[in-house]
Amino acid sequence: MKPMVRNSSNLIQDRKVVKKIKDGELKIAIYGLGHVGAPLAAVWLRAGAHVIGVDSSKNVLAEARKGRTVIPEPNVNEAFRNGIDTERFKLYDDPVKASRDSYFKMICVPVLSHNQELSADLRAVSDVATMIGKGLKKNDIVSLNPSVPPGTTEDIVIPIIERESGLSVKSDFCMIYNPERIYEGRAIADIENNYPAILSSLGPNSAQLAYTIYSLIFKKGVLILKSIRTAEAEKLFEGVYRDVNIALANELAKFCEVAGIDFWQARDAANSQPYCHIHKAGIGVGGACIPVYPQFVLDVANKMNVLCEVTNISRSINDGMPSYCVRQAIKLLKFSDLPKSKVTILGLAFRGDVSDTRLSPTYVVITELQKFGIKNIRIHDPFVSNDPNLLKYYNVSLTSDLKKAVKDSDLIILSTDHQEYKKLGKKLIGNIPVYDGRGLLDRNLVNKTKILTIGQGDIKIT
Ligand SMILES: NC(=O)c1ccc[n+]([C@@H]2O[C@H](COP(=O)([O-])OP(=O)(O)OC[C@H]3O[C@@H](n4cnc5c(N)ncnc54)[C@H](O)[C@@H]3O)[C@@H](O)[C@H]2O)c1
Repeated sequence: MKPMVRNSSNLIQDRKVVKKIKDGELKIAIYGLGHVGAPLAAVWLRAGAHVIGVDSSKNVLAEARKGRTVIPEPNVNEAFRNGIDTERFKLYDDPVKASRDSYFKMICVPVLSHNQELSADLRAVSDVATMIGKGLKKNDIVSLNPSVPPGTTEDIVIPIIERESGLSVKSDFCMIYNPERIYEGRAIADIENNYPAILSSLGPNSAQLAYTIYSLIFKKGVLILKSIRTAEAEKLFEGVYRDVNIALANELAKFCEVAGIDFWQARDAANSQPYCHIHKAGIGVGGACIPVYPQFVLDVANKMNVLCEVTNISRSINDGMPSYCVRQAIKLLKFSDLPKSKVTILGLAFRGDVSDTRLSPTYVVITELQKFGIKNIRIHDPFVSNDPNLLKYYNVSLTSDLKKAVKDSDLIILSTDHQEYKKLGKKLIGNIPVYDGRGLLDRNLVNKTKILTIGQGDIKIT
């Protein structure tokens, strides 16, 4: 990592840039106001900056103009409202004008394709780079924030911006790669307090500028990496690490089930030693990040004929979990009764206490149940109120009424670790058997004889 050398001329320039950002002379444009862009816009507003929000969705812009984000995230609405009241937050539907009117442009659009293939789809990033390039001025700064395959900034984004602007990154503008490292549900805290910013840059005096600007909001500091490719890889490694470790936990949990061992107790005990960090086993890995980033690494590795075997096999293990868990869960039903059984799935979001359903394993759980001829499936989620795809593609219903969801059910499958489900008690579920695919429930609180928990082998089913 390149340490920043702070001398007096650095400090004078820092103060000038910070003053100009706070005065609104240097504006910040954020392209894409979703899970990442909305909290980032909020953080810059909280730091006193003047922010231009850009989004291709009319609904996202309309809501933002009313001071609301479409992605629920603590403290974002408050920052949006304050920004609008103080005239520091403007929403543009013209991305080229946004580039002309701003000094610092942050690209926060998605790279996951709409058909949910896990390979990178760089169309939105390329579109935004084109628009930014058309409005780019000498000395402007552009930052790419999504997680991308290594090489994307230098091989794709910079050439587009140079072509459209007629300017060169070597002498005219600054290009930064800064991967967002937020955890949904605590995005603002993550940016402002929890992690240092990781970045790498190209362009005249770019490391100094990047350091100055990012230091304004990242209290944990700024780590400058030597190359943009390294910074791009860093973010993917965070996802690969999680995926591989979850796969290990899943493998151990399956072993425990057969060997009559309690995975959760063994895990807690093992993790009391400081070099052991066994992750949680679970019914599947979802979301727009963890299942996707290993694939970005594998795609680049395949092109270069490099084997990434652990990454590859971990993906297969985790992808196989919904099917494995459904096979376990239906052991709680009589095989001959399967087609007429009513099954309730608790949780549609890909993980606990968020509303994000992207690549949620629950969709695979539904498909796997349907393969066994089970048609009567109800989904409950306290955070997701609407999902048109559920009825259209899966023909199942969604409710946020827990009592209604479990009424007359033959089997409950806990798919998402929403904390609310911890309160499930005998009163609500009576004698309905439960498959706990997250190891969340206290088996003494629910019906002890009819609960099957992932990773627990000492099951006695009556
Ligand atoms: N979700 C997370 O927690 C998270 C965490 C870290 C990194 N990331 C990365 O950030 C990227 C963005 O993810 P997200 O979760 O914010 O996506 P998102 O789908 O929540 O939001 C993207 C926003 O961009 C808008 N958009 C799409 N195309 C556009 C275009 N051409 N011009 C302007 N706006 C456009 C969409 O309307 C949407 O509002 C991801 O690809 C991922 O790599 C996400």
